[in-house]
Amino acid sequence: AVDKYTEKSLDTSAPPFAPTKSTLDAAHAHAQASGLPDIAVTASQGKFLMLLARAARATNILEVGTLGAFSTIWLSHSAGAGANKADTNVVTVEFDAHHAKIARENLERAGVSDRVSVEVGAGVEVLPRLLEEVKAGKREPFGFVFIDADKQNNWEYFDVAVQLSVPGGTIVVDNVVRRGNLADEELGKQDERIRGSRKVVELAGKDSRVDAVVLQTVGEKGYDGFLLAVVRG
Ligand code: DHB
Ligand code: MG
Repeated sequence: AVDKYTEKSLDTSAPPFAPTKSTLDAAHAHAQASGLPDIAVTASQGKFLMLLARAARATNILEVGTLGAFSTIWLSHSAGAGANKADTNVVTVEFDAHHAKIARENLERAGVSDRVSVEVGAGVEVLPRLLEEVKAGKREPFGFVFIDADKQNNWEYFDVAVQLSVPGGTIVVDNVVRRGNLADEELGKQDERIRGSRKVVELAGKDSRVDAVVLQTVGEKGYDGFLLAVVRG
């Protein structure tokens, strides 16, 4: 019931500054019909990410883990009222070629494919390449990074994301609570995904390059949480 109540804050989608409900529903339906797992962020979480990117004034956004582009569609609408929506650039990295195909179809249908590039490949290979391009001045650093891919590599993604960020840039990592499982040391020993998420929380907390905090969330997809980090300097 609380989910239904909190969803009311989503009602006012006003294109081009937020995706419409029919756009989001079509993206979700296409992903489901194409066999993608139903593990995208919820609409409330997508809107939250969009608003965080807007608050950060991020015009260049990186996402690791596209899946069906549900969160990507939200992030691609992060330019606020008065901004030119074409000023927003989103790079989204997806390992699975089938997911990337569905994501591109969803982005096209959502009318945002002009602002989004889907990079197909393993994050552990694509992110270092992006970093080389940023260092060579061939690519702008990012003001907002959302990490939501294979949890085993969370720390590797986070470490490169810090280096890819503008000073003061925002980084968010999904799924760092997992119904409380992150707090269970035994589960951490058995499950490499839990271990990967524990590692990013523990190391980000000690990382002098960032200030970081975990925000626990409850919603349509249960009890979980985001790691929020802001790059110093
Ligand atoms: C899973 C992955 C996610 O990114 C998520 O938000 C929920 C579940 C999973 O792999 O099970
Ligand atoms: Mg996730």
